[in-house]
Amino acid sequence: MGVNSYLAHAPGYVDNEGPKIVTGRFVHEDSHTLARSLATGGYDGLKRALEQSPTSIHDIVRDATLLGRGGAGFPAGVKWGFCPPGVWPRYLVVNGDESEPGTYKDRLLMQRDPHQLIEGSLIACYALGLSQCFLYVRGEMALAQERIAIALNEAYDAGLVGTNILGTDLSVDIVLHWGAGAYIVGEETALIESLEGNRGMPRLKPPFFPAAIGLYGKPTIVNNVETLANLPWIINNGAAAYKAFGSETSPGTRMFAVSGHVKRPGVYEVEHGTTTFRELLYGDNYCQGIRAGHELKMFIPGGGSAPWFFPEQLDLPLEARPVGAAGSMLGSGAIVVMDETTDAVKACLRVVRFFARESCGKCTPCREGTSWEETILQRIHDGLGRPGDIDMLLDIADNISPGPYPTAADEANGLDAVPFPPKQTTICPLGPSSVAPITSAIRRFRHEFEAKITARELIPVEATGP
Ligand SMILES: Cc1cc2nc3c(=O)[nH]c(=O)nc-3n(C[C@H](O)[C@H](O)[C@H](O)COP(=O)(O)O)c2cc1C
Ligand code: SF4
Repeated sequence: MGVNSYLAHAPGYVDNEGPKIVTGRFVHEDSHTLARSLATGGYDGLKRALEQSPTSIHDIVRDATLLGRGGAGFPAGVKWGFCPPGVWPRYLVVNGDESEPGTYKDRLLMQRDPHQLIEGSLIACYALGLSQCFLYVRGEMALAQERIAIALNEAYDAGLVGTNILGTDLSVDIVLHWGAGAYIVGEETALIESLEGNRGMPRLKPPFFPAAIGLYGKPTIVNNVETLANLPWIINNGAAAYKAFGSETSPGTRMFAVSGHVKRPGVYEVEHGTTTFRELLYGDNYCQGIRAGHELKMFIPGGGSAPWFFPEQLDLPLEARPVGAAGSMLGSGAIVVMDETTDAVKACLRVVRFFARESCGKCTPCREGTSWEETILQRIHDGLGRPGDIDMLLDIADNISPGPYPTAADEANGLDAVPFPPKQTTICPLGPSSVAPITSAIRRFRHEFEAKITARELIPVEATGP
């Protein structure tokens, strides 16, 4: 299936009941146009921002505790404060590369409300005192690119982007940059390399983070699409109104993309931090439960990189801290649900294959290790596994993301030895991302791996290769 065909069939937005901070305009067919945006309060947040000082806007965003939605959940207002004073020019880079397995919420924000993203980016530029913004959109997202391009042209023509915006001293240019379709370019330093015209490979950090030394060696704030899309509402309504939704440490709402074996998959805007996985996956207002006649086996709570969860974690709230304490992450806001018909080895292989193919190859443990992981999982899946394969998988995992990992004896004793957050011997977290499905699947479903390996004994040795 071609990429565009896949995107056309991917689940879309579900208009559930609840507060709408970033998806409010999605109910309109023409939500992507400037006319609809202006008719529904579009650019009012920018106008309000321009009536206040940049420092006041930064303070509002800091007070709102707007957590980054790209994966790490770092507060935007705090990150903005890391730009070293007096160093110019500085840049805003909007991360629209969204390629994490299961994640498709930024795509909807870019397709359905590009003006909200442009407005949010302008508010950030104003608060940061900068005049150049780059909007980096994943290569395969043709419709998102097209709509953003049209929206930018509309906004330039209307004096909302460019020189002396709305007749003020604010001048900001926004450049739309189309990626070439690499997952690793979602990592912020690889994205910066790509923008500079180099191969999209991550830079070592620490010591330098983009806020200090980023694009063209200058201070650069990289923010996720959804993070910036929150800004118009926050400036229009204030930090206190934002914090009235969600929990104390995870305020506001958050978009979650749910896929897999639920009755109603799709993207939902839900209250952050207070809604539980059970409510989201089983609630009438949301996914309405597992497909008829089936039971939940496992779910990935935060995109392909996240360690797997099981039915006993359903009552955790959608909040970073408790999810982290339970050994996983909310990551990119993507939940992949698998019922009891799912082959754990095959599911694990499918996710690991993605990371093996998307490894940029810059560092050895990831470049070599991820393809070894794929090879071993493939042969186990094909019924050609060898007796030492589970140990070898865990050994490779340990070399990419040092454990300790659970042995069969640990499991028998009920020990849970998978460390979280993961350590890494690699330059960036992609290597450890390939380890998460392996340790999750072996920890819980070792018997499924063993059953496939035992089946090999029934196959003549000459048919199994070396
Ligand atoms: C392998 C990898 C892929 C990533 N992909 C994305 C992505 O597609 N979109 C995104 O916003 N952040 C992605 N991130 C996180 C970014 O590096 C960065 O933290 C984020 O864009 C910062 O925005 P935020 O603070 O608003 O969340 C990725 C990180 C890694 C390690
Ligand atoms: S961990 Fe993988 S993707 Fe990241 S820099 Fe190393 S080789 Fe590239």
